[in-house]
Amino acid sequence: MSDQTRDTYEQLALRLAAANRVCVLTGAGVSRESGVPTFREADGLWNKYRPEELANVDAFLRNPELVWEWYSWRRELIGEVSPNPGHYALAEIEQRVPQFTLATQNVDNLHRAAGSVNVVELHGNIMRNKCQKCGVVFKEGDPENEFVFEKGTLPVCACGKKGLLRPDIVWFGEMLPEDAIQQAWEEAGQADVFLSVGTSTVVYPAAALPFTAKQAGAYLVEINPNPTELTPLADLVFSEPSGEALPKVVAKLRELQA
Ligand code: OAD
Repeated sequence: MSDQTRDTYEQLALRLAAANRVCVLTGAGVSRESGVPTFREADGLWNKYRPEELANVDAFLRNPELVWEWYSWRRELIGEVSPNPGHYALAEIEQRVPQFTLATQNVDNLHRAAGSVNVVELHGNIMRNKCQKCGVVFKEGDPENEFVFEKGTLPVCACGKKGLLRPDIVWFGEMLPEDAIQQAWEEAGQADVFLSVGTSTVVYPAAALPFTAKQAGAYLVEINPNPTELTPLADLVFSEPSGEALPKVVAKLRELQA
């Protein structure tokens, strides 16, 4: 059977079954079916709120209460949602291929909650805090992460520099964590199969990863109900929600590996 006559789910499953290294980039779209809003769609966050007032250091230093209030609302929202079938399918693919890296632009922790292990958080994690001045990042369970925002209270780091605590998120104008982008870069350059899932592919440097992978010879797959700048370059495109496409691919992969 030629690739043209196989269904696309099977085509991708065959590629995954033959791959040694698989790399995935995810964006807000993969969490949409869990109830987490995306950024740039008609009902997206950046169409309702102004990033320059909420997602950069100057805004935080100008009005930390406003920024904390907004992130507390997002934390609450994210705290109530669960992974969807797309997250679970990616976690299962990780178990079924020799080497797997999932680079995510999402800060919602849902990939780990679904069981993904090798997760590279390019834009941080909304459930962690860090100090704006000394830069120390607090771990899950640290008391500094337990802070619950209330108007009139701002958390201060014990570092001696009296830095304000802030969410451990990459804001506009900030560098991505060096080790995260480095790892994602290396994996993209070596991947046999690269999946770009639920991202508009417009925010750099993360958006460069699928282009880099393609240039280095990866089989490039896009899963997104809407076209992006990546679409014409992709070897295979699933124009449907990731929570629908990915489980179908995994079902085929299970059959192939049974
Ligand atoms: P965007 O909001 O820019 O794009 C979300 C993409 O998901 C769109 O292309 C949608 O078509 C697609 N989509 C929607 N529903 C989907 C579904 N069910 N399955 C698959 N795809 C779906 O979000 P990102 O690309 O993640 O940065 O945005 C990148 C960065 O911009 C974010 O990490 C954030 C934002 O500013 C920071 O906060 C640093």
